Amino acid sequence: MAKKTPEFTRPPRERAFLVGVELHQQTALLSLEDSLTELALLADTAGLEVVGELTQKLDRPHVKTYIGPGKVEELKALVEETLAQVVIFDDELSPRHQRELQLAIGKNVRVLDRTALILDIFAQHAHTSEGMLQVELAQYEYYLPRLTGQWTHLERQAGGGGGRAGSTGGVGLRGPGETQLEVDKRAIRKRITHLKKELEKIRAHRQRYRAQRRRSRIPTVALVGYTNAGKSTLLNRIAKAGVYAADQLFATLDPTTRRVELPGGYQALFTDTVGFIQKLPTTLIEAFHATLEEIAEADLLLHVVDISHPNAMNQFEAVQETLDKIEAHHIPVVTALNKIDRLRNPESAQEVVKKFPKAVAISAVEGTGLRDLLRVVQEELYETYTPIRVKLPYQQGALISLFHEAGQVELVEHGRGGVYMQGRIPGRLLAQFNEWQVSGNHAEKEEEEI
Ligand code: GTP
Repeated sequence: MAKKTPEFTRPPRERAFLVGVELHQQTALLSLEDSLTELALLADTAGLEVVGELTQKLDRPHVKTYIGPGKVEELKALVEETLAQVVIFDDELSPRHQRELQLAIGKNVRVLDRTALILDIFAQHAHTSEGMLQVELAQYEYYLPRLTGQWTHLERQAGGGGGRAGSTGGVGLRGPGETQLEVDKRAIRKRITHLKKELEKIRAHRQRYRAQRRRSRIPTVALVGYTNAGKSTLLNRIAKAGVYAADQLFATLDPTTRRVELPGGYQALFTDTVGFIQKLPTTLIEAFHATLEEIAEADLLLHVVDISHPNAMNQFEAVQETLDKIEAHHIPVVTALNKIDRLRNPESAQEVVKKFPKAVAISAVEGTGLRDLLRVVQEELYETYTPIRVKLPYQQGALISLFHEAGQVELVEHGRGGVYMQGRIPGRLLAQFNEWQVSGNHAEKEEEEI
């Protein structure tokens, strides 16, 4: 008898209702409408189905329920009508707002905010142990003050993408669910302390690795950009790296580094980084500090902007703001204006190029402009090279090789006690050569002195 194959049925997506508030005193990067569109995209990425939205303009949030009491009633009615199971506010709600709203809406519908949603997406996309620890820490920091009997976490939907549970043992990674409600706050605080210690260990390891890399000749370029700008696609294209690129927000959470050949024959290490977004939760910035530090340590930032996006300029600014927060604003930036293939008139990109620092118009998908982009990167990295003359004793073999590997050697002369070298080295390596620098023109007499 033939066996009947069980049919695979995808569970229905949870129905989400969105709420956006425009506060008069607040200057927002995106308009209320655009911010809600983005929230809808986030909800979709998290596996939810958006069934409606409600907005309100306010001078300031209502003390108890964030939106006014009349709006709460309206929201309740709409939630019933649309059979929504989750209500998501486009701002971070205070624990009190969340509690009061939850009480008002009723316990069958969960009240969440943008931060919870982003945390959930991050949890789905973290792959390395560090990424997972960072998300777990951010989740506990966020949920700790919000733990009440009322609250249950946004449930993971089966098939909602990588439903892996916490890898770190103990309390589940996906944020406290039903069972975590019974976990008392003390246990969570203990877990937070443990997570911080673990992350500190990883950080120390990273620092050692970074110091090693700094000694190496290859400069690093960190790709930064708004979520979905095309960073992974670009890295794939220029390094044929096979980095995961998807039309999803925050598809890349863990830094991937690839070696890329630049047009002048030089090489650079390109690192893909986590996508930025407006209103990036502070808990996440804090938790991801170690990863973001990678950006702050780069020799150059390659800021990828989706120029076909109607809010490209605002997204650019949101990234700049985050770069300021992680103290990476001092690093030179090259801008890649990506997705020009989607512009009705790709030529128009040339006009926009002038508005951004050191910009090149590209299409990562079609490969347009990539050579120009790499040439600008090459120039930028090259410009940080400094002319130098050194007399290196033979015992300093490592420095001699470093000069050969990392620098542009113009002249080498071997003397009795060492090597005279003249050329250019990356600014970041100068300190190592300081002790051996010589001034004035090279002359035979110097050779004798060696
Ligand atoms: P995060 O992981 O969210 O930070 O995204 P990302 O910046 O790494 O973007 P990713 O490379 O995953 O690309 C996002 C989407 O944009 C994917 O669907 C890509 O195929 C698409 N995309 C990237 N570059 C281009 C481009 O030049 N043209 C077009 N048309 N689509 C592009």
